[in-house]
Amino acid sequence: MPSPSSRISGISPSGKDGWEVHFAAYKRQAAGEDILMLSVGDHDFPTPSATVEACVKALREGHHHYTPLPGLPRLRQAIARLSTESTGVETTASEILAMSGGQSALFAAAHGVLDPGDHAVVVAPYYATYPGTFRSAGAAFTILEASAEDGFEPRAQALEQAVRPNTRAVLINTPNNPTGAVYSRETLEGIAEICCRHDLWLLSDEVYWTHCGMDGGRKHISPRGLPGMKERTLVINSLSKSHGMTGWRIGWLTGPADFIRLLINLNLVSTYGLNDFVSHAAIAALENGYGVTEIAAVYNARRTAFLKEMRGLNEIVVRGSEGGMYVMLDIRAVDPDCERFAWRLLDTEKVAVMPGASFGEAAAGHLRISLCQPEDKLRDAAARLRRFIATYPVEKTA
Ligand SMILES: Cc1ncc(COP(=O)(O)O)c(C=O)c1O
Repeated sequence: MPSPSSRISGISPSGKDGWEVHFAAYKRQAAGEDILMLSVGDHDFPTPSATVEACVKALREGHHHYTPLPGLPRLRQAIARLSTESTGVETTASEILAMSGGQSALFAAAHGVLDPGDHAVVVAPYYATYPGTFRSAGAAFTILEASAEDGFEPRAQALEQAVRPNTRAVLINTPNNPTGAVYSRETLEGIAEICCRHDLWLLSDEVYWTHCGMDGGRKHISPRGLPGMKERTLVINSLSKSHGMTGWRIGWLTGPADFIRLLINLNLVSTYGLNDFVSHAAIAALENGYGVTEIAAVYNARRTAFLKEMRGLNEIVVRGSEGGMYVMLDIRAVDPDCERFAWRLLDTEKVAVMPGASFGEAAAGHLRISLCQPEDKLRDAAARLRRFIATYPVEKTA
């Protein structure tokens, strides 16, 4: 075949993407092995039935056609209301671009603010698609490691040092995947001050915004609501995590209306707009808040139950783990090599977890545990982990 573009070949240049343990576990499960999968971030329950019914109704009513490029007006309005709530900033429909999932919004944001050769700062531990998204835009980026000892929140001083003359954007994610860290106001103010001073865009991935703040936990703060930030913040959000709609592929970007107007062209040349009946289901889900409170409560209860089991273990330190759909366990006292630990855990106890190193250097020596399993399975996983750690082979170092 003729050679593919370097843009496409360059998205995952190493071929290794950190998902090796997960895919091996998935294959073994498909072959009939009883594997406890704690490696993926997809709900173990279906989309709320009211949303499903709204979709069926929309199909029956004939919503089978093209939709306006930035999203149906009523969908943009419903998203704008949610954006007002989630960011604390009055938002209009003209500041919303509806897209197929938060990932599309992230792609649009990266392509909307970075030219080839521009530079961005990506805070790690990060969601696995971030580097590839910037590579696809031809941009250079610096990974800024937020350390485990800082609860995986980035320090403003370190961000300042990462900024170069050609830096155009910073990407953050709170509540965070993989760490579950929920950034404090102080952290966000430090980031915001640097963005304002260096005239940078802030790409703020807030897809887990409903998954924190219960039982006195730290509440989500959007940097869009901080002084001087509305005009330079692009919020990435979606219905995947908050409304239990991962497979429906509905997300959006919130940003300045002039920027959104330009970016509509990306929908023109890529997707030509969203699916009609799914858009109607999304409107119903947004206007009625189907599932939002219940889903957030489920993950909160799971996090509490799993961490209760883990906190009693001397060898394990819980880091971050305040929100989102994951907890992060520091296993360095047992084995500094989290990949080796994860493979052995899979082989010995048939539990699949993500090695923290898949998400950047700062998360090395950690395990990301997905809470996308019922509480009894999470308790079972905790028991298996405890048993595994108690007999873990200690390596002889030369
Ligand atoms: C931090 C983060 N951002 C964005 C996404 C993309 O989600 P979606 O495209 O389903 O909205 C995910 C999915 O797991 C995520 O964890």
